[in-house]
This record gives sequence, structure tokens and C-alpha cells, in this order.
Amino acid sequence: MNGSVLTLDDIAAADREDFRREVLAGLAQKARAIPARFLYDARGSALFDEICELPEYYLTRTETRILAERAPEIARLAGPHPALVEFGSGSSVKSRLLLDAIGDLAAYAPIDISREHLEASAARLRRDYPGLNVEPVCGDYMTLERLPHMGADGRHLGFFPGSTVGNLEPADATAFLRRARRLLGDDGALVLGVDLRKDARVLHDAYNDAAGVTAAFTLNLLRRMNRELHASFDLDGFAHEAFYNEGEGRIEIYVRSLRDQQVNVAGRSFGFARGERVHTEYSYKYDLPGIEALARSGGFRIGALWTDPERLFAVAYLEAACTK
Ligand SMILES: C[S@@+](CC[C@H](N)C(=O)[O-])C[C@H]1O[C@@H](n2cnc3c(N)ncnc32)[C@H](O)[C@@H]1O
Repeated sequence: MNGSVLTLDDIAAADREDFRREVLAGLAQKARAIPARFLYDARGSALFDEICELPEYYLTRTETRILAERAPEIARLAGPHPALVEFGSGSSVKSRLLLDAIGDLAAYAPIDISREHLEASAARLRRDYPGLNVEPVCGDYMTLERLPHMGADGRHLGFFPGSTVGNLEPADATAFLRRARRLLGDDGALVLGVDLRKDARVLHDAYNDAAGVTAAFTLNLLRRMNRELHASFDLDGFAHEAFYNEGEGRIEIYVRSLRDQQVNVAGRSFGFARGERVHTEYSYKYDLPGIEALARSGGFRIGALWTDPERLFAVAYLEAACTK
């Protein structure tokens, strides 16, 4: 390495080392698990975009409808000259509703862990919004220490849509909100998209689509390990498994082994018994008191909350609560 200047190769090597360490630790546990953030390599991000278009995946279209209707109100609440900071920005599709509604936006900072996808999304935004200052940040929003300088004299408006907060276990969701509260500052606000508890069948179908796109998304984690960690997963030897755990109020997603088998990962050998599972993702579902409790635990209060008529999904406008 040359001084303190990191090249793209150094960054890719550090990302890969983080992946290797987490996978080896996760597979060594009794209850095997790999953190959900690793589902999003370039192919994972593209598959997530496909999931958003699925008929069973009501989440995206419902949240988009709420945001489209409420964007002018959000712009009013945000006040003059704000900066928009999106956590887990993906393709930055929903953010465009806010970019269009907030006429005097100082800057937009999309934050995502999926590097190539983030760069491509930022390039599209710069093309479509030539006057907008776009400041992408590739990183983990659970450990991010500071925001880029965005020259806003108004407030920092955070945006965390897509029910991404549901991927976090409750203690991590609180830790995330506290971090966001600190990053956004005492005058900050956060627009939070939350999937609501509902009929178990509707939830089950949303994560078990007929076209098998969600299964491809989950199994892509094995492909990523094969490519980046020289692993030897046979994709036909594993299946996607997703179900609603009513007691915990969450969808649980796993990769399940279809037979007894041995797999090499980064130079180590792991045995998988038939039926053995590796946990890949949770998606927690909230009720309205749960959203309020979550907001409070993270140092926010609810300034406004909107749902669709069927109460499938909620969008909350959270304001930083006084810390004293
Ligand atoms: C459920 S998708 C939502 C995408 C988009 N915001 C939307 O609403 O359609 C979650 C996004 O968060 C990103 N992500 C997941 N874990 C992350 C982490 N720990 N830090 C930063 N980004 C993360 C993924 O790459 C993905 O783009």
C-alpha cells in the first residue's frame, strides 16, 4: 500500500477479508448464520430490484404509493435547504420522489454496501438531476462514523425505506436509530419505511414468490462464496426456506441443505447434514405501538405517520427528540 492512499484493489481486498471472516465465523457456530448485508453483491442488488417488481411483494408498491402521496408534506416538514441522506439506498428509486418534491435540496448522499450498484445508481442520478450534488458513500450504515460534507444550511433528512429496518434484530434496530440520530444531528429527521404485521399467508407469499426470484436472491449468497471465497457449494444441493414466525413477528430466511454433504470454504471443510440450515435474513414486522417504541428507543419521536388504506405498510416521519 502507498502511504494512506487506498486504491480500489485495497478496498476490494478489505471487503473480501470482511466477508471471509464473517462467513468462517458464521459457519463455525452451532446455529449457523451469515449477516444479511452479504446478500448484496452486484447480482444480489439486481435480484432485489426484481423482487420489488413481483406481484407477491406488496411492500415496494405500497410504500411507493404512500411516499408519492406524502412527498409534498415531507418536503414541508423538512423545511428549507435540507440535505437528504439515504441509508441502504439500492437503486435510489423511491428517493426520486423526495428529490422531485424538495425543490431546494442541498445534496443527496446515498449510502450502501453494494459498491458497483451504488456507483451505477449515483451515475444515473447525476445524469437525471444535473444540478444536484450527489455524494455516494460506500459502507456499512451500522458502523458509519460521519456523513460527507453536504453544505446544507437546513436540516439533515434521513431516509430509511424498503422495510430495511426489519432486517435488523430489535437491539440492532435501536443501535442503528441511535447512530442515525447522532449522524443527522439535533435538528435531524428520519423518514422510515416499516412493514406492518398482517395475515401470515400474505407475508409467506411475499417471501416465497412463484417465479423463484427470492430463492435466487438467497442462493446467490452461495454463488458469492464460490466466487469470492473459493467455496464449493453445489447450488442444486441447497434450497431457500422462508416462513413467518408469528411469535417473534418476523419472516425468517435460511439456506437449507438438501442432503448430507461436505463443502470447502476459504480452505476449510464444513459438513452439512440433510435439513441443516444457515440463517441469512430476518424481516421483522411491526405494529404501530412497536414503531413508536422503536422510535423512542432510538432517540426520535413520531412527527407524522402514514399508512395505506389496507394498513399493509407504514411510513413514519421521525424527529430527533431532545436529548436532555
Ligand atoms: C431492502 S434493500 C432496500 C433498497 C432501497 N432503499 C429500497 O427501498 O428499495 C436494502 C439495501 O440496503 C443495503 N444494505 C444492506 N445492509 C447494509 C449495511 N449494513 N450497510 C449499508 N447498506 C446495506 C443493501 O445493499 C440494499 O441496497
